[in-house]
Amino acid sequence: MKVKQRSVSKLPEIDFSNLGFGKYFGDHMLLRRYEKGAWQESQILPFEDIPLSPANVTLHYAQSIFEGMKAFRGEDGIVRLFRPEQNIARLNRSAERMAIPLIDEKKTLEELIALITLDQDFTPPHIGSSLYIRPFIFATDPTLGVKISETYNFMIIITPVDAYYGRSLQTVKIFATKEFIRAAPGGTGHVKAAANYAQSLYAEKIAQQKGYRQTMWLDGREHKYVDEVGTMNIMFVINDTLITPSLEQGTILAGITRDSVLHLARDLGWKVEERRIPF
Ligand SMILES: Cc1ncc(COP(=O)(O)O)c(C=O)c1O
Repeated sequence: MKVKQRSVSKLPEIDFSNLGFGKYFGDHMLLRRYEKGAWQESQILPFEDIPLSPANVTLHYAQSIFEGMKAFRGEDGIVRLFRPEQNIARLNRSAERMAIPLIDEKKTLEELIALITLDQDFTPPHIGSSLYIRPFIFATDPTLGVKISETYNFMIIITPVDAYYGRSLQTVKIFATKEFIRAAPGGTGHVKAAANYAQSLYAEKIAQQKGYRQTMWLDGREHKYVDEVGTMNIMFVINDTLITPSLEQGTILAGITRDSVLHLARDLGWKVEERRIPF
């Protein structure tokens, strides 16, 4: 992997007391091109704008996927990633569904660690904050034909962030919509396709106009069962049982937080049910 380092760090420009979400970026980014039928050697480069053709197929047809994961600074000062291999495996599941060439998971983890190691000083120290890591792949053919692209960019960018809903632990008011759907069986709801999020924004806008923070999506067929919330899975504690929608319908994202909470709950001897939940 080639590494070209930034000569002057942007670190001093960052206000760690007010990070927000996705406002500041690391000094470096990773770029791996897919062309001539294969993924090419990766490069770590200074974070900068990239040139795009106005005919770039992703802009027009959204052949694009992404991941979201975090690194945390422990009390011992050490920066740790949370289950990164799970995010890379899910990126490949998204790639498969969106007809994007798969990536080598082991190599990707090594390169991700190299990027985070280089920019680890961007990891904020305070509780609740983290270094958010955004791997993504998008088609780059400069052509308007609706077809599978023959070229792609795999990139990783990083951003120091506060907790998504602000520093203090806040409850999030959610609005269950029966008017709009996020996903239906056979669609792309189970993967992290960029288009899933674009099509959800209108319903989010209406929920926000009504005074809610996010939409709670119901199933796409009957609008009767709970699926998930805008950017998170949902769980209920009813009596002494932890209940969450099952993954069987193929309409919700298999969240890594969801999986971790279910593991912990089962280890702690809680009653856990993964099933359809009528709203
Ligand atoms: C639609 C959706 N569901 C669930 C999640 C939670 O996934 P994870 O726990 O892997 O972060 C996300 C995360 O961004 C999401 O966008």
